[in-house]
Amino acid sequence: MGVLIAPSIICADFSRLGEEVRALDEAGADLFHFDVMDGQFVPNLTLGSQLVEDLRPYTEKPFETHLMVLEPDRHIEPFVLSGSGRITVHVEACRHIVRTLNLIRTFDDVATGVALNPGTPASALDAVLDYADAVTVMTVNPGYAGQHFLEPMLRKIEQVRMMIESRGLKTLVQVDGGLSPDNIGSLVSAGADIVVGGGSSVFANGRDYKGNIARLRGRL
Ligand code: DX5
Ligand code: ZN
Repeated sequence: MGVLIAPSIICADFSRLGEEVRALDEAGADLFHFDVMDGQFVPNLTLGSQLVEDLRPYTEKPFETHLMVLEPDRHIEPFVLSGSGRITVHVEACRHIVRTLNLIRTFDDVATGVALNPGTPASALDAVLDYADAVTVMTVNPGYAGQHFLEPMLRKIEQVRMMIESRGLKTLVQVDGGLSPDNIGSLVSAGADIVVGGGSSVFANGRDYKGNIARLRGRL
């Protein structure tokens, strides 16, 4: 499987999101990444499950919800019901993360995701990796799109990949933040299976979605 590209929906034009999802689908997006922020875990406030539900009919491609919220348990069911096929929570935001991941797994055909902030070492996955269908390595400090890529996170991507392989797991590695045509090659070499694209990639160049996604793939 080649690397999957997941546009970060908070970078799209919120006045016409349905058409945006359709255009991103046609431009070659593999799945859609919804950044949910509560203004507590991260400074910003973004979107709720109603928006995800209303966008569900615009594409057949998978939806992933990235919960940048404190105590995410209460938000899991609404986002599952809205059509998200993977729910990603932050290790730093969960008081009982194994309970949270098991809660996600109580829903049919919904995958678990575990995200690590830049300051959280890969070793934080040690006790939870077996419960994660995907690991998201944040390559920016969460809260906003359009931030600068944090180069030292490449090492963490490699560490996570090695942890997964040493246990013989099939856990996917997702990289989230600051993707660009200049770093996508390094991210994939470090072990990324999925890259989330926002301001410096998919939504750059006047939102030339088709050209931007082709440019990203052209650098692999
Ligand atoms: C940041 C979000 C990312 C971000 C990606 O908190 O989790 O998904 O929106 O956008 P860029 O690629 O611009 O960093
Ligand atoms: Zn995200």
